[in-house]
Amino acid sequence: MKVVFMSLTGQTRKFVNKLGLETMELTADNAFRKIEEPFIIVAPTYDKEVTDILVDFIETDRNRSYFKGVAGGGNLNFGKLFGFTAKDLSRDYGVPLLHLFEFQGNEKDIQILKEKVTELG
Ligand SMILES: Cc1cc2nc3c(=O)[nH]c(=O)nc-3n(C[C@H](O)[C@H](O)[C@H](O)COP(=O)(O)O)c2cc1C
Repeated sequence: MKVVFMSLTGQTRKFVNKLGLETMELTADNAFRKIEEPFIIVAPTYDKEVTDILVDFIETDRNRSYFKGVAGGGNLNFGKLFGFTAKDLSRDYGVPLLHLFEFQGNEKDIQILKEKVTELG
């Protein structure tokens, strides 16, 4: 399972680097890349205009058919808006919301997401 992510201030990058899985970082320059293997997305939470590169990626070529689940980083101080980017992607694309964590996550967050990915097969 490949882990596709974006990161503006490095928190999500630190998190995914601890998963021990293959990763692919999306930026404005490579968002329209084609993928031909199953992947999950790990998304930080920002306004839609900022995270739209994730949608660009999902909707490129046949990428959507390989999209298996989504996890999200955020900040609990945002209350009801905590992790909304990952929640919205889960709803919009009908994939499981695997886990939400704060900033770069902790040991437990890593363990939970690894288990969820294993369950996905
Ligand atoms: C301008 C701005 C808006 C944010 N909005 C939200 C939000 O609505 N909900 C949330 O859970 N976190 C929000 N965050 C927190 C980030 O999602 C969080 O810090 C995340 O770990 C950043 O990941 P990154 O360093 O990989 O970019 C916001 C952060 C910034 C700077």
